[in-house]
Amino acid sequence: MSQAKLKWGILGAARINERLLPAILNSDNAELIAIASRRPGASAETLAKYAPGHSQIAALDSLDALLQHPEVEAVYLPMANREHSEWALKAIAAGKHVLCEKPLALSTADIDAIATAAQQKGVTVMEGFMYRFHPQHAKVMEIIQSGAIGEIRSARASFSFMMRPARMYRLEEPVENGGGAMWDIGCYAIHSLRLFFQELPQAVTCLSHYVTSGADLASSGVLDFGEGRFAQFDFSFSRARRCEYEIIGTQGGIKCHTVWQLPGDVPVISWWSEDGQQHEQRLPASNHFELEVAHFSDAVLKGQPVALSLNDARDNCQIINAALQSAREGKRIIL
Ligand SMILES: NC(=O)c1ccc[n+]([C@@H]2O[C@H](COP(=O)([O-])OP(=O)(O)OC[C@H]3O[C@@H](n4cnc5c(N)ncnc54)[C@H](OP(=O)(O)O)[C@@H]3O)[C@@H](O)[C@H]2O)c1
Repeated sequence: MSQAKLKWGILGAARINERLLPAILNSDNAELIAIASRRPGASAETLAKYAPGHSQIAALDSLDALLQHPEVEAVYLPMANREHSEWALKAIAAGKHVLCEKPLALSTADIDAIATAAQQKGVTVMEGFMYRFHPQHAKVMEIIQSGAIGEIRSARASFSFMMRPARMYRLEEPVENGGGAMWDIGCYAIHSLRLFFQELPQAVTCLSHYVTSGADLASSGVLDFGEGRFAQFDFSFSRARRCEYEIIGTQGGIKCHTVWQLPGDVPVISWWSEDGQQHEQRLPASNHFELEVAHFSDAVLKGQPVALSLNDARDNCQIINAALQSAREGKRIIL
């Protein structure tokens, strides 16, 4: 019997399709039906680049046409950050399941509206934190749960790279419109730290360095989980590449060396404990975009919940907005 496949459409000819489009093509339980763009010819150009030989995939020059496409069951939404919630709601209204790039929305009110609409329509919506599907994080959680580092007391996530001049348009919008490092890479740092505390922080403090548009170029701050449990985030578009987190417990620590895995990166986890143990484990390479698409497709096809809930998206959004407020007002924000 052939495997059931979720039928996908892509809503926008964005750069990130370089990773997601092949992931859909390579997943056994996914099938790409169409891609749409508002720019005439851009969807056909994307297919020529990333899906040569797949002439059955439709290239549409209208986003609404994709939402009305009768065969498309789920959409991948890789639009600009400020457009995510509007188009997620349109896709839900059209009865489509939605895998939306991070951040799902810029406000918790928008996430609440998405959650209500999705429930009414009976569709699945997930925020696309692809990194979480890499097996290296399950390995980290296994080490934590083994008790090897004791009780978690602090964590740190550092994300940075030198933004190439061609991508500087991401700094043209102020943070209020989804521009800058906080919405683009800070959301990963904060999301990854939350995995180790499994609760909302009690307070957030953040410092940001802005460019003239009002986008943050670099931000750094602390999530306060109470009783001296602090999680530090630090990210920038104007520093050498770094994408790691470290967790320190009462008896030792763990480090994930490359959280965003790019092609060619070797996943490495190292951990140590106060009794003198030192370990380093290299994991097999995995494509977290393919794992994300396979997971989402499987959950929808089986009618099961997705790994990243809308409550999780809401909590991340609330913390990001508190961090932005802290940086803007120069004070600690209590949640
Ligand atoms: N998960 C990850 O690893 C990852 C990595 C990078 C980005 N992202 C996220 O993915 C989303 C898209 O990021 P991106 O950098 O791929 O976006 P992008 O290339 O800037 O594209 C975003 C949207 O802008 C339009 N667009 C693209 N190129 C354009 C051009 N030359 N002129 C005018 N409009 C253009 C497209 O809509 P039309 O086709 O309809 O015109 C597209 O949907 C963001 O939310 C980002 O946070 C995720």
